Amino acid sequence: MERLQKVIAQAGVASRRKAEELIKAGMVTVNGQTVVELGTKVKASDRIEVKGIPLAKEEPVYYLFYKPKGVITAVTDDKKRPVVLDYFPEVKERIFPVGRLDYDTTGLLLLTNDGDFAQKLTHPSHEIEKVYVAKVKGVPNYSQLKILEKGVRIEHYKTAPAKVSIISSDAKKGTAIVSLTIHEGHHHQVKNMLEKVGFPVLKLKREKFGMLTLDKLNPGQSRRLFKKEVTDLLRLAETNSLSKK
Ligand code: URA
Repeated sequence: MERLQKVIAQAGVASRRKAEELIKAGMVTVNGQTVVELGTKVKASDRIEVKGIPLAKEEPVYYLFYKPKGVITAVTDDKKRPVVLDYFPEVKERIFPVGRLDYDTTGLLLLTNDGDFAQKLTHPSHEIEKVYVAKVKGVPNYSQLKILEKGVRIEHYKTAPAKVSIISSDAKKGTAIVSLTIHEGHHHQVKNMLEKVGFPVLKLKREKFGMLTLDKLNPGQSRRLFKKEVTDLLRLAETNSLSKK
């Protein structure tokens, strides 16, 4: 027996939080009966419908994608701009991106139809480590890097401690390549952090997500995650949230 919201999330219909909202709003039926109780347990043979549509029992699938530049992290776009789902024409499951990368950011993006997995990995308290490499205008000095490491105030929040280092710099062009490791995932966070200390981002790439890298992939290519990678990521998210309690 599983909790109803978990089963809906795992079917790829919605995140667990969204599934809870759908249940509370009376949009979910189990064997023909509307269920508004969040704790309700269901079994595999139960007939679940969300907004009158039967829940398709999809196998959970997980992809690691090397997102190219000029692609929106979305399933569809009403202005018909390229979206990450365009790169998965053969995939039958209803996959969606886990978190987001900006239109002009390249790098590692996960996609899945498992809403529960997506929520665990993107929840701020689970703190999965992400490594970004940015080309910036200007060359930061030691004290500017230290400010970033300690955390900077951006609009309504202060960034958590980060790891920052300079990979290389080009004094002639007045640019530097900076590596930044963060746990959070605020909108435009890396660009905002570097901008805050005076270094606008010219190019941005996410190179690592937890233990995953872009190894052997080119922009636009993807691969399935191994079972062990999925369980390792979930364990990492779980360990991080436990260590905060
Ligand atoms: N931070 C950003 O500023 N942009 C991204 O795409 C990801 C992290």
